[in-house]
Amino acid sequence: MPGRLHVLRHPLAASFLTDIRNRRSGRELIRRRVRAMAVLLATEATRDLAVRASPVRTPLATAKGARLVARVGLVPILRAGLGMVEGALELLADAPVFHLGLFRDEKTLQAIEYYNKLHRHHPVDVALVLDPMLATGGSAAAAVTCIKRWGVKRVKFLGLFAAPAGIRRLRREHPDVEIHIGVVDSHLNDRGYIVPGCGDAGDRQFSA
Ligand code: PRP
Ligand code: URA
Repeated sequence: MPGRLHVLRHPLAASFLTDIRNRRSGRELIRRRVRAMAVLLATEATRDLAVRASPVRTPLATAKGARLVARVGLVPILRAGLGMVEGALELLADAPVFHLGLFRDEKTLQAIEYYNKLHRHHPVDVALVLDPMLATGGSAAAAVTCIKRWGVKRVKFLGLFAAPAGIRRLRREHPDVEIHIGVVDSHLNDRGYIVPGCGDAGDRQFSA
């Protein structure tokens, strides 16, 4: 159903998110947990994709078989979304990956685009936007706008932590986009960080 908010309710997700939140967790554990969360989120986000019949010969007989109809592409938002790519590729091993570079201006909290090569490729049928954080929603909304301009009809957002304000903004600007999120937190602080959240998701995965 278009535009729905899906919050992942799974004991493993709750445990993985706890590790990601924990200020004592190091890069290795955080990367592993972000990747695992991406597997769980991608499992849910692909649940309603159509399949066509594709009979297959086993060593014993012919089985019915099925293949995805839609061409699914991954759109990680740099930097923090990079950590979700490998997890999503566990399920969609041959999916093309279209990197989109956006950073949030620290003062204005506006999303600034710095890398986008989408137009060089044919649009996919379904795009899965990967970004752990849906804070003000500015980056996610800008990413979806880009992807729709490129020609993609169906876009889903996959994230780990969301603030209510980010969900409201993404739904207001793109009511057709399904949102798959690990957890919805309480609020944003005065610097636009999700509280309690996990801090800066890019730094926690990649910085020294
Ligand atoms: C973070 C995060 C999102 C964005 C969310 O990226 O990964 O892209 O902020 O905030 P918003 O919902 O208010 O737009 P950031 O701009 O810090 O860049 P980084 O991933 O390179 O650290
Ligand atoms: N970006 C992050 O990395 N964390 C937040 O809490 C908000 C935006």
